[in-house]
Formats: sequence, C-alpha cells, structure tokens
Amino acid sequence: MKSVFAAMTAAVALMGISSVATAGTFNTGPCKACHAVGKDVVGPDWARVAKAYGSPEALAKVFKGGFKPEDRKIGSTEPKFKAQEAIMTGQYNTLIKGHEDDAANALFAAVKAGKI
Ligand code: HEC
Repeated sequence: MKSVFAAMTAAVALMGISSVATAGTFNTGPCKACHAVGKDVVGPDWARVAKAYGSPEALAKVFKGGFKPEDRKIGSTEPKFKAQEAIMTGQYNTLIKGHEDDAANALFAAVKAGKI
C-alpha cells in the first residue's frame, strides 16, 4: 500500500512538471495583440475566460472539439463578443489547432502570473 502511494505521488509530481513545461512551449505572444489579464481588450479578459472554463482541461476540451461558437463560454453568452467570434476562429485555426493542451495550460499560467 505504501509503495502504491509512493508511485502515485511520483506520478502526480511528474504530471505537475510536464504541465509546467508544456505551458512554457506555447507562445502566447500573438494573443497579446487582443487579450490581457485583468481587462477586456479586443477579446475578453483572460481572467474571466479562466473563471468561465474553470480548468485548463475544460478549455482544452472545447479547443479539441473544434472550438465551436456554441461551445464557447464567453462568445456564446456575451453579444459584444459573439459578434466577433470569427476573429477568434481565425486565431484558433492558425495558432491553437494541434496545440490545444499547451494553449489551454498557457492561458491559465498567464492568469496565474497576472500577465500574458
Ligand atoms: C485578433 C484578435 C485576437 C487574437 C490575436 C486572439 N484572440 Fe482570443 N478572442 C478574440 C475575440 C474577439 C474573442 C471573443 C470572441 C469569442 O469568444 O469567440 C476571443 C476569445 C477568446 C477566448 C474565449 C472563447 C469563449 O468565448 O469562451 C479564448 C479562450 C481565447 N480568445 C484565446 C486566445 C488565445 C490562446 C490566443 C493566442 C493564441 C488568442 N485568443 C488570440 C480575439 C483575439
């Protein structure tokens, strides 16, 4: 039992390390043109985005599902951003597709750091 617990602890520690590493591999630089942490710019405040999704896993799931407008928590509920969904679809297609987990982890890491 003790060894099972030790193995689980090691696995969790490894997962922690890998999630930090993958967050670091996604370049959020281009996102800064339209997003910030703490205020809406062209796109919604990432702190609000993180709160709406709750976890990087939940956001990554919506990214992996094709980032459909009806699955988006902010765009599907706020008329101002709904009108701009196509802008974000373009960003998704060029920057996020194929890097869904890294992008979601990077967004949450930016919110934790307080800046993109
Ligand atoms: C050219 C401007 C622009 C850039 C660059 C941009 N976004 Fe956005 N983003 C928007 C707009 C506008 C919205 C609101 C529309 C929407 O939610 O679909 C948005 C919304 C979002 C949402 C919330 C979706 C929702 O409605 O729940 C996420 C997550 C997001 N962007 C992530 C990113 C990431 C990650 C990057 C960088 C890879 C990025 N954005 C780059 C304009 C941009």
